[in-house]
Amino acid sequence: MIIHPQIQGCVARNCHPIGCRAAVQQQIERIKAAGPFNGPKRVLVLGASSGFGLASRIALAFGASADTIGISFERGPSDKGLGSAGWYNNIWFRKEAEQEGRIAINLIGDAFSDGMRQQAIDTIRQQLGQVDLVIYSLASGIRVLPDGTQVRSVLKTTGQPFSGWGLDLERDILVQQSLAPATPEEIRDTVTVMGGEDWQLWMQALQQADCLALGAQTVAYSYIGPESTYPLYRDGTIGYAKEHLHATAETINLQLAEIGGHAWVSVCKALVTKASAYIPVLPVYLGLLMGVMKERGVHEGCIEQMQRLFAAKMYGPNGVVADGNRLIRMDDHELDPAIQAAVSALWPKVTPDNFHALGDFAGLRQDFMQLNGFELPGVDYAAPVDVASLGELTP
Ligand code: NAI
Ligand code: NA
Repeated sequence: MIIHPQIQGCVARNCHPIGCRAAVQQQIERIKAAGPFNGPKRVLVLGASSGFGLASRIALAFGASADTIGISFERGPSDKGLGSAGWYNNIWFRKEAEQEGRIAINLIGDAFSDGMRQQAIDTIRQQLGQVDLVIYSLASGIRVLPDGTQVRSVLKTTGQPFSGWGLDLERDILVQQSLAPATPEEIRDTVTVMGGEDWQLWMQALQQADCLALGAQTVAYSYIGPESTYPLYRDGTIGYAKEHLHATAETINLQLAEIGGHAWVSVCKALVTKASAYIPVLPVYLGLLMGVMKERGVHEGCIEQMQRLFAAKMYGPNGVVADGNRLIRMDDHELDPAIQAAVSALWPKVTPDNFHALGDFAGLRQDFMQLNGFELPGVDYAAPVDVASLGELTP
C-alpha cells in the first residue's frame, strides 16, 4: 500500500508508519548530537506518544539513559485504518530504546482513569521499583472523571469575541476564524479537562503507593505567550486551565515535601503539535514566530526545547532554574522583546495573499506533516508499505 497524506482542516486523518520511524530516529540523533547529561534514571511520562511528551521521553532515554514508562491514548491498525502516528511512535521508540539496553514500556489507554493509575503503579513496582521523575504532558479535548462523567474542553476566548486570520493546513490558505466568549460552564469544564486536578490525582496515587523515589520531581507543561496572543490563549479557556495547573503545582509541591520532592511547571514555547494546530488563529502567530526565530538563529523544535529543559534547566549544574513564580521559562527566547516586536510588526500586515512571504508557513506545514510521518528526508514515499507486518507490531 502506498500512503498519501490525508489532511482535513488542521487534523491529520492518517499517518505514514515508516515516516514516523524516521521522525523518532531524527529526534534521537539530535539528542545524541547534543551530548549526554546527568538526568533522572526512572521516568513516567503521561502523554508520551507525541509532541512534548515524546520529545521528553527521547531526551531522557537517549540523553540521560533513563528507563521509561510511557502512557498514551492511541489507535492501532484496524478496519478503520492504519492507526495513529502516536501508536507507531511508541513502537519505534521502544525498539530504539531497547536496542540501547533501556527499559521502555508503553501503556495504552485512558490516563484520566483510576484503572490506568493502578496499571502504572503495578508496572512501576515490577519494572522500575520507583520513579525519579513524572512528566505530565497530556493534551485532550475530553476527560472521563473517575465517577464516569464526561467533561469536554473548549477553545474559546473570554470577555470580547476575537477574530482573525487562521490557517487551513489542508488547503494551505488563510481563513477567517473567530473565538466566541465562553460561558462560565465552558471555562469550568476546560479547567476540569486541562487543569491540574488529574495531575494531582496521579501524584497522590503514586506517592501513596510508594512509587516515588526520595527527591522525586514532577513537571507539567504550560504556555503563556505574548500579550498579542492573550485573547487566544492566556485569557481564553485554555489559559484558565493553565492557571489552575500552575496553582496545582504548589499543592503537589507541598505534598512532595514529605519525600524531599518538588513539582514544577515548565512554560514552553509555542510549537507545532497535534494539539496546537487545532487552536484557532494561533498557527498564524506560530508561522510568523517561526520565521523570526529562524532568522535570528534561535528557533527550537519540540526536541530542542526538551533537551534544553532537562540538560540545562532541570538537571544541569544549577539544578532547577525557575523564575520568581517557580515557573521554568522555556519561552525565554520566544518572549524576547526584540522577537515579539518583529512578530507584532508583521502580524497586522498578514493577508491571504502574502502570508507565505511574511512568515515561515512552509516550515510550519512541514513540521505538521512530519508529526504524521510525512515529508521526512530519507523516506521513500513511493515505496509500498507492508501493512500486514505493521499489524504484527505491538506497542
Ligand atoms: P500532543 O497532542 O502532541 O500530545 C498529547 C499526548 O497526550 C499524546 O501522547 C496523547 O496520546 C496523550 N493523551 C491525550 N489524551 C489522553 C488520555 N485520555 N489518556 C492517555 N493519553 C492521552 O500535545 P502537546 O502539544 O505535546 O501537548 C502536551 C502539553 O504541552 C499540553 O499540556 C500542552 O498544553 C502543553 N504545551 C504545548 C505547547 C505547544 O505549542 N504545542 C506549548 C506549551 C505547552
Ligand atoms: Na505530549
